[in-house]
Amino acid sequence: MLKIVVMVSGGGTNLQAIIDGVRDGKIMNTQIAGVISNNRNAYALKRAEENGIPSCCVSPKDYESREIFNGKLMEAVDSYEPDLIVLAGFLVVIPPEMIEKYRNRMINIHPSLIPSFCGKGFYGLKVHEAALERGVKVVGATVHFVDEGTDTGPIILQKAVEVQQGDTPEVLQRRVMEQAEWIILPRAIDLIAGGKVRVEGRKTVISE
Ligand code: GRF
Repeated sequence: MLKIVVMVSGGGTNLQAIIDGVRDGKIMNTQIAGVISNNRNAYALKRAEENGIPSCCVSPKDYESREIFNGKLMEAVDSYEPDLIVLAGFLVVIPPEMIEKYRNRMINIHPSLIPSFCGKGFYGLKVHEAALERGVKVVGATVHFVDEGTDTGPIILQKAVEVQQGDTPEVLQRRVMEQAEWIILPRAIDLIAGGKVRVEGRKTVISE
């Protein structure tokens, strides 16, 4: 059984897709051991509660320094003894010691086709604003392992989504979630739980 911890900051629609995936059998052999939010008011915490999933909030605002916060965040993660950490819209910089400890055991969903529209400053609506401004006709989402860089780790899955005439950043964001994020994040977890994802250097190899 793959024990996962899901880290969130906001609405938690990706968390919901994972909860639904585990319930419906699209994600096999997986247990959501806990949900961690940096934001006490995140709706994602309600979703955890409604589904009987243990959760907690660890906010940088509650601690005097980044070092102390990083330590508390690590403690919270470790307390669930996860096999895999899933960053599902988590907006806080991950402590370097956590990246090291959970190398190839921490994944992130990013709302673009990496290496487009990723890296520092590309998060949330900004990604979709930049894509519309550039006039690309195809966008999408990426699930990747987390390394020391921003959105630079080995790519696990990607899915493309078409831009339509008259799209606003909000409309495009929603379509990318519905048609890509909520599909590939559960699928990536299922593949990992099934032992089908191997990291080879900068890449992953998926065996179906
Ligand atoms: C998603 O667009 C995700 O790709 C990004 O943050 C958003 C989180 O949305 N990193 P939600 O909290 O899962 O609804």
